[in-house]
Amino acid sequence: MPKSKKDSSSEIAKMAGIHEQLKEQTDRLNTVLINLRYEGKTNLGKNLKEVWGILFFFEKEVCLHVEAEEKLLFPFLQAHVPRLEPLINLFHSEHEDFKRNLKRFRLAMEELCGENGDHHRAKRIDNVREIGTYLIYLLRQHMAAEEESIYKAVLHELHQGEREELEKLIASHRASKAA
Ligand SMILES: [Fe+2]
Ligand SMILES: [Fe+2]
Repeated sequence: MPKSKKDSSSEIAKMAGIHEQLKEQTDRLNTVLINLRYEGKTNLGKNLKEVWGILFFFEKEVCLHVEAEEKLLFPFLQAHVPRLEPLINLFHSEHEDFKRNLKRFRLAMEELCGENGDHHRAKRIDNVREIGTYLIYLLRQHMAAEEESIYKAVLHELHQGEREELEKLIASHRASKAA
């Protein structure tokens, strides 16, 4: 049955695909945070620009992804695979933790960019690195746990009809966001 093409373009596959992009961004952030600390003033502007790019990506793409999980995927799975309820509650609180720390990360970046003194700048860089490292850790383990549980459940535990219903829900949510 030629279904692989359909699967790769499915809404659920697209949602899982965002995780791959996110993993790349967390890897990049990890490298830039090290560069920010050790490359000094010469590359400061370039490294800061790169961190801002990743921060914007998190603020836009991750928040859209989180919203789709919270509004569609989680309630649907709670209704159809009740044993996932405790895990979904955990994922929900991790989303809140992520959003809180993303705001702290932006604030730390704004403070760093407004700093002129070398001594204080070093402290502000440490602060950005500390929060950034926490975000990287949080995102990586959160995505891995989601993939092992809820995304697997969508593929292996929902019936064909349920999966199609979920596909339609995600598609109409996407369309409403694009409008
Ligand atoms: Fe999530
Ligand atoms: Fe996710």
